[in-house]
Amino acid sequence: MKIKTVLGVETSCDETAVAIYDGDNGLLSHEVYSQTDVHQRYGGVVPELASRDHIRKLLPQIKLTLSRSGLSANEINGIAYTKGPGLIGALMVGASVARSLAWAWNIPCVGVHHMEAHIMAALLEQDAPEFPFLALIVSGGHTLFVKVDAFGSYELLGESLDDAVGEAFDKTAKLLGLPYPGGPELAKLAEQGNLNRFHFPRPMVNKPGLDFSFSGLKTCAMNCYREHAHDDQLRADIAAAFEDAVVDTMMIKSKRALNQTQLKRLVVVGGVSANKKLRARLRDEIEKEGSRVYYPRREFCTDNGAMVAFTGYERLTRGFIDDLKIQVKPRWSLSEI
Ligand code: KG4
Ligand code: ZN
Repeated sequence: MKIKTVLGVETSCDETAVAIYDGDNGLLSHEVYSQTDVHQRYGGVVPELASRDHIRKLLPQIKLTLSRSGLSANEINGIAYTKGPGLIGALMVGASVARSLAWAWNIPCVGVHHMEAHIMAALLEQDAPEFPFLALIVSGGHTLFVKVDAFGSYELLGESLDDAVGEAFDKTAKLLGLPYPGGPELAKLAEQGNLNRFHFPRPMVNKPGLDFSFSGLKTCAMNCYREHAHDDQLRADIAAAFEDAVVDTMMIKSKRALNQTQLKRLVVVGGVSANKKLRARLRDEIEKEGSRVYYPRREFCTDNGAMVAFTGYERLTRGFIDDLKIQVKPRWSLSEI
């Protein structure tokens, strides 16, 4: 049977997300349920609670996404789910439900790589980049430069040697007493900050290469917070200095990566690419130098089902079909696919 309409399931962390992508008509529907309320009081994602909530929410989300697409179950001809990387229990919920549904519906199923799906999110836009391009993936678990020559062809050029950039945002936000998820909260607070008060280092920009390091920046924010009298302005000023250092570092390294690869297209994806300041500065300064910058729409920067359905469609139509063994890969490098 020709594969045309694919259901995608994402449960790698704290979003239960489902979407339906159709080869002729594009994205038909997508739903994201975020577990923020479940984890907020713990200040971060509690893996066991994440799994339990995915179990409760996944089938109702699939039912809702199907009904919003106007399709019935027998019009779906493929299923994709996030196989990894991510939290093992959370991944197992999505994998088990997706694989079993595909068996019951007698249609093919494929597990996809979460980071490949993040990259593919940029191709869902009308103004999508052509291959080859440079991808900067900035999420809660990863910070990577990847040369993307074609669908499925990825060369890892650089990565964070310690904390991922989203993780550094979240940890610094927690230090400043902001609620989980910290990244967007810190960005909001930074809008009230005075950028002239503190200047944080731009880590590793004076070393050659395309790797990152963010744990020192988090420590720098912590020391600064300890050394000054606590008030709301101090928190905002630290947030602004932290965000500025991250954005500047990303920009310096992105220019270097474009130069080194001679690529003219930069695609920025993953949760942190929703950051307004990062989006604006990268676009302004990189486009001034003659390259183009592409982002997914903001709702497809953070975890979503649309990127999984679309990546699954691309894989299934190329003949990648998994057997009945339910498989997840909590640790899985993009360079292994
Ligand atoms: O891609 P994603 O939804 O999940 C992972 O695969 O990790 O990324 C989540 C990360 C979190 O660390 C979150 O704080 C960060 O993206 N994030 C942001 C913003 N929105 C989400 N960081 C900075 N500014 C934002 N506006
Ligand atoms: Zn993600």
